[in-house]
Amino acid sequence: MMNILVTGRLPEEIMSRLTADHTVTANTLNAPMPGEEILQQIKDKDGLLCMVTDRIDDALMQQAPKLRMIANCAVGYDNIDIGAATARGIWVSNTPDVLTDATADLTFALILATARRIVEGDRRTRGGEFKYWGPLLFLGAQVTGKTLGIIGLGKIGKAVARRGRGFSMPILYHNRRRIPEVEERELDARHVDLKTLLAESDFVSLHVTLTEETRHLIGAEELALMKPTAFLINASRGPVVDEAALVEALTNKTIAGAGLDVYENEPVLTPGLADLDNAVLLPHMGSATLETRTAMASKAVDNLLAGLAGETPPDCLNCVQY
Ligand code: GLV
Repeated sequence: MMNILVTGRLPEEIMSRLTADHTVTANTLNAPMPGEEILQQIKDKDGLLCMVTDRIDDALMQQAPKLRMIANCAVGYDNIDIGAATARGIWVSNTPDVLTDATADLTFALILATARRIVEGDRRTRGGEFKYWGPLLFLGAQVTGKTLGIIGLGKIGKAVARRGRGFSMPILYHNRRRIPEVEERELDARHVDLKTLLAESDFVSLHVTLTEETRHLIGAEELALMKPTAFLINASRGPVVDEAALVEALTNKTIAGAGLDVYENEPVLTPGLADLDNAVLLPHMGSATLETRTAMASKAVDNLLAGLAGETPPDCLNCVQY
């Protein structure tokens, strides 16, 4: 019997796998558990199942002398200080694979929504502006056949590339490492440097993890390299983009538009962003389908239970060092 803290509301059938053999303190609300409450609650806990919105740093771990396992219910883990966890002998896991398709689907929804002015069209139709059909009204940008530039061709980036192939889009990509040639052929993806990708793509889609190297990877200089007809899509992490520079580029129309699911200071938006018609703004919902969120919760529980049982968690991020 271990003490477990679950900071987000999970499906009942998943929670029951934890409560069957352990003492569980859980957030039953849809809002994040406040940081101070996590700090209070963590003191006697052996395991933590946390959300992407929780900041799990060394100061918090210091308050938790019994903590052995942190299972993040997300694929990204920039919210957790992995180095501090490793130094304290705490295992950390994430939830890869199960959210790849949902996130790639949402990315494509952003591509289509920005290019074809879907959200604006809906709003204006409801507002009574659909008075007649006109050959030059509500014109957007063609998606089929346009060049898709993917920055970060990992699992989600590749899933986006596959969808792009379905729309006959030539694929450019930029990565730390080139992917194997056989995969490049399968995706028909061409590896290029960042500048070339920015200059040649009609859609630039970001799929990197957030690290010190990728923070503000897209700033004023990079936006200036993009075509005035191009769109920026971000369903990765907000701080990868300098949001003030993006608002400026969108305002001055030096790029055509942006589709965003994530923000630099989530959930706060940079002033001006919400006023722009050429931005589609979503509330960090890349993985938000019932199937995917259930699978993520299930995976986080698998990892947590394995770690607490002293077995290597299937998605351990820092176990190799033991
Ligand atoms: C969500 O943002 C995730 O990393 O799973």
